[in-house]
Amino acid sequence: MKRRLGWYIFGLAIVILLTASGCLAGDNNPSNEQAIEAEWQSQDNAEEPSAEVYPPARPLVLGFSQLGSESDWREANTTSIKEAAEEAGIELLFENAEQSQEKQFEAIRSFIEKRVDVIAVAPVVHSGWDEILKEAKQAGIPVIITDRSIDIDDPSLYVTHIGADLYEEGVKAGKYLLDKMRDQQAPIGFVELRGTEGSSPSIQRGKGFQNTITGHDEYKLLDSEAADFTMEKGKQVMKGFLQEHGSEIRVLFAHNDDMALGAIEAIEEYGLRPGKDIVIISVDGTRKAFEKLVLGQINCVVECNPLLGPNVMQAVQELAAGRTLPKRIVSSESVFTEQMAEKEVGNRKY
Ligand code: AHR
Repeated sequence: MKRRLGWYIFGLAIVILLTASGCLAGDNNPSNEQAIEAEWQSQDNAEEPSAEVYPPARPLVLGFSQLGSESDWREANTTSIKEAAEEAGIELLFENAEQSQEKQFEAIRSFIEKRVDVIAVAPVVHSGWDEILKEAKQAGIPVIITDRSIDIDDPSLYVTHIGADLYEEGVKAGKYLLDKMRDQQAPIGFVELRGTEGSSPSIQRGKGFQNTITGHDEYKLLDSEAADFTMEKGKQVMKGFLQEHGSEIRVLFAHNDDMALGAIEAIEEYGLRPGKDIVIISVDGTRKAFEKLVLGQINCVVECNPLLGPNVMQAVQELAAGRTLPKRIVSSESVFTEQMAEKEVGNRKY
C-alpha cells in the first residue's frame, strides 16, 4: 500500500512538471496560439521593408527587334532606342534582323523564352505578323509596334504603334511637287525610287504621293523600282532609269534620303544637274540630305523622325504601371525646302 502511494505521488509530480513546461498542451491550447501569433508578429516586424534595406525592383526588360541597318535613318533610330533605354534604366535585349522577317520571328521567340516584360518590333514588311504576335499574346507579353506599320486581322495582338504617318509623308511630297511645278509645261516625266518591297513606308508613301497627283494629267510616271532604302541601290537603279529615259526625267521622288543621295551621284555622272535638271523630293531629313538641300541638289525633304527611343521607353514604363496606351502614337513632322535648309541644317540631330 505504502509502495503504491509512492508511485502515485511520483506520477502526479511528473504530470505537474510537464504541464508547467507546456509539453502536454494540445494544438488548440489558447495560450500556445497566442504565442505563435506573437511570434509571427515579431517576425513581421523584423521583416518590415525599409527604404534603405529593401532591394530595388528589378529593371524592366525590353526585347527590341530592329529590322536592319540599311540607312542613316535606321542608325539614328537604333542609337535613339539604345540611349533612351539606358537613360530610363530599362534592360534592353537588342536584335538586328538585317532585313529578314524570319530573323525577326526568331528574335521575338527568343524574347518570349527569356520572359521579357515588353517586346518592341520595327517590322521589316507590312504583312505576315499574325502568328508570331499570337505567340507573344499567349505568353502574356505586350507588343509595341514601332516605326513601320503592320497589316493584321486582330489589332488586339499589339498594344500600340509608335511612329510616323507614312501615308501623309507621301501626300506632303505630292503637294510640294504640284506647287513647285505649277507653271511647268506638260508632260512632266517622273521616276520613283521605292523602298524595300512590301514594307509599309514604301507602300504608303507611294500611295500618298500617287493619290495626291492623281487627276493632274500633266504628270507621266516613267519608271518605278524598289531600291531597298540604300544609297548603293539608289544609285544603281537611278543609273538604269537615266539610261532608259535620259532627259525625259524631270522629277525624282525617292522614298528616303539614302536612295536620293545615291541618285544624285548617278545624275551627276550622267551629266545632268540634280535639283535643277531633275527636281528631287526625298523623305527622312538626315543631316546629309540637308547639306544637299543647302546646295540646291535636293529640292524638298519630307521629315520622318527616327528619334523614337524616348517614346518607346515611356510606353514600356506605362505598360509596366498597368496603364492603357493609345492605339496610335504619331510623331509630329515637317517639310523642308531649299529655302529653309540653311537655317535648319545645324539643328539636325541625325
Ligand atoms: O521605316 C522608315 C524608313 O526606313 C526610313 O524612311 C528609311 O530611311 C528607313 O530605312
